[in-house]
Amino acid sequence: MKKDEILGIDIGGSGIKGAIVDTATGELVGMRHRIDTPKPATPDAIAEIILQITKHFKWKGDIGCGFPAVVQNGLVYTASNIDTSWININAKKLFSKATGLTVTVVNDADVAGLAEMKFGAGKKQRGVVILITIGTGIGTAIFTQGKLLPNTEFGHIQLNGAIAENSISDAARKREELDWETWAKRFNEYLVLLEKLFYPDLFILGGGASKKTDKFMHLLTVNTKIIPAKLQNNAGIVGAALTAKIN
Ligand code: BGC
Repeated sequence: MKKDEILGIDIGGSGIKGAIVDTATGELVGMRHRIDTPKPATPDAIAEIILQITKHFKWKGDIGCGFPAVVQNGLVYTASNIDTSWININAKKLFSKATGLTVTVVNDADVAGLAEMKFGAGKKQRGVVILITIGTGIGTAIFTQGKLLPNTEFGHIQLNGAIAENSISDAARKREELDWETWAKRFNEYLVLLEKLFYPDLFILGGGASKKTDKFMHLLTVNTKIIPAKLQNNAGIVGAALTAKIN
């Protein structure tokens, strides 16, 4: 284990992925290890997977986790795409106890944003940048002058009278069997709304859908510049490791 290496773990709605990250370069050291998210994704079931991933890497150092909910000082406050038994659970304490190591837990979109701002599409972007992760849910991270405003949860703002992520996530696209044009039209309305609220300089699109931007980027007509995330699906792992380094 080298000085800058941290085990980064991205806890998602469908998979939990870990890798050792060189936090000085943002590169993964070796292969990722992925385990399906248990169903139901209860605190104990997820803690067990964190332990399995730690054992897989024979890891003895610090661990950083990205988690798909509002997390303040390790405490989970919301549960949209995870089991409701997570509410008011201290994930930091739970995972630290399970592994016997120091574990940091931060919102998944926030960590992905931190990774993109340091090593990816947001590098040297000083204005207002909004990173949107499109996956099982919609995650957001907003930066100004490179500084993060944590736990923004803009995936939960109202779009056409309902919670936005329910109609514009990648899961919604698959569930409703939408073609790319129909989905992109909805997603564009969402971007227009964010544009009116925050006048960002840049949107970065990340999460699982960042691998498919060739299918829909040309269908988006919003004025703000939009670019795909560079680290793609590794942003969550890299950012998780970065936050463990900072905290
Ligand atoms: C959660 C967010 C999370 C996003 C992406 C949403 O349902 O509320 O906290 O960042 O999904 O996983």
